[in-house]
Amino acid sequence: MLINRNLEACYSLRRHEVRKTIRNVRTKIGNPVDIGELAFLTEMNVVISIIFGSKFVEEMEKRSKDGTEFRELVVKYGQVMGKPNISDFFPVLARFDLQGIQKVMGKPNISDFHPAISECVKMLSDRREGEIQRNEKKHLIQILLELMEQKDIGISQDLVKIKAILVDIAIGGTDTTITMVEWVMSELLNNPEIMSKVQQELKHVVGMNNIVEESHLPNLHYLDAVLKETLRLHPALPFLLPKRPSQSAIVGGYKIPEGTKVFLNVYAIHRDPQVWESPLEFQPERFLSPSTNLDYAGNNMKYLPFGSGRRICAGIPLAEKMLMFIFASLLHSFHWKLPEGENVDILEEFGLTLKKSERRVEAISVKPRNCKDLDTIFPTGFSIYNIRVRIMMLVGHFLSLVRSSNQLLSLLHYC
Ligand code: HEM
Repeated sequence: MLINRNLEACYSLRRHEVRKTIRNVRTKIGNPVDIGELAFLTEMNVVISIIFGSKFVEEMEKRSKDGTEFRELVVKYGQVMGKPNISDFFPVLARFDLQGIQKVMGKPNISDFHPAISECVKMLSDRREGEIQRNEKKHLIQILLELMEQKDIGISQDLVKIKAILVDIAIGGTDTTITMVEWVMSELLNNPEIMSKVQQELKHVVGMNNIVEESHLPNLHYLDAVLKETLRLHPALPFLLPKRPSQSAIVGGYKIPEGTKVFLNVYAIHRDPQVWESPLEFQPERFLSPSTNLDYAGNNMKYLPFGSGRRICAGIPLAEKMLMFIFASLLHSFHWKLPEGENVDILEEFGLTLKKSERRVEAISVKPRNCKDLDTIFPTGFSIYNIRVRIMMLVGHFLSLVRSSNQLLSLLHYC
């Protein structure tokens, strides 16, 4: 579902969401924008559409106009799930629930998450028959429900597993991406010369009379290096996800008994002075050298922002595309600066995801980088310019109609 070939098929969905975001920023020029919230709405709609289908996103938007209700649920759930829990390190203490994490999980605003997901599963399970008959493209949830029916196992048990997979993807896909968008923007605001290098690249690759498309992304090498360097300094999951070996093993001379909960400290690896030069400095250039040859595949043990091996992140192609697309579009369309008198703090708050300790990252989109282009593609309202553009578009449609009817006539002539 999340491999490149399938993602190509839903490009229009991503383009729609990213452009909606740019339109949204355009209405707020000169005012602070909460970057995390912006990224959340963009990413959440894409991820939820992949899982449940775009109809579900429409219904959700109707219920909670700006999607904040669901965001709060995802953030709260992620916070509780991601808190370092003493019970994980000392399972004998689990029954005492020393930090009260188990208790908080049962509180209504957190446990609401499961009924919300159950409601979606039920809604889609009820109507999927009709949809499949009409040959609509299947969504992840339809595939999972079909698989569940094929097997002769207790249905309620399987529903629990499906819910777990969905929660994994909804939280894994949104919270990590928002966290990274906030870190990338913080580093760019902190290093204006790097931001301007990215904008120069965009000017060169996309052009100022054009609009960013996913086809431009493979040529944005400097932006790619900026994202890679941010993921090195601020890996979204600093200890990856805990692993539990099914057999005892010796690793690096240490015995890891079967069933031990193992956390891999990627944060420390990414800042190890033995493998990285000036590890605490933000230097995207280190990823430009062909000799470095570092990607997200987890084959080089000095760089593992998405993990490695069989449990590597399942959403790498989507995460990479979305981060590149969002930043290419935000930086191509606008100049960005910090609100007056504010500094970017890059202090971290440890949990499952490595968040900024000051959660909100506010930045001001100062001015559009190319008014003409923005007005054409992201009209915000009624203006003489918009009318002119619409008339030009109508003339364009008319001309292409005339051209195609001429082609049709000549074709008929030859038949
Ligand atoms: C910048 C964004 C993202 C980052 C940095 C990230 C990072 C990670 C990391 C480090 C892991 C754990 C790997 C391990 O323990 O070895 C993981 C697991 C996972 N990620 Fe992502 N991820 C991102 C976006 C996404 C997206 C967009 C999706 C799906 C829509 C996704 C789905 C998953 C799933 C399902 C797992 C669990 C895989 C398993 O346990 O087998 N992630 N991610």
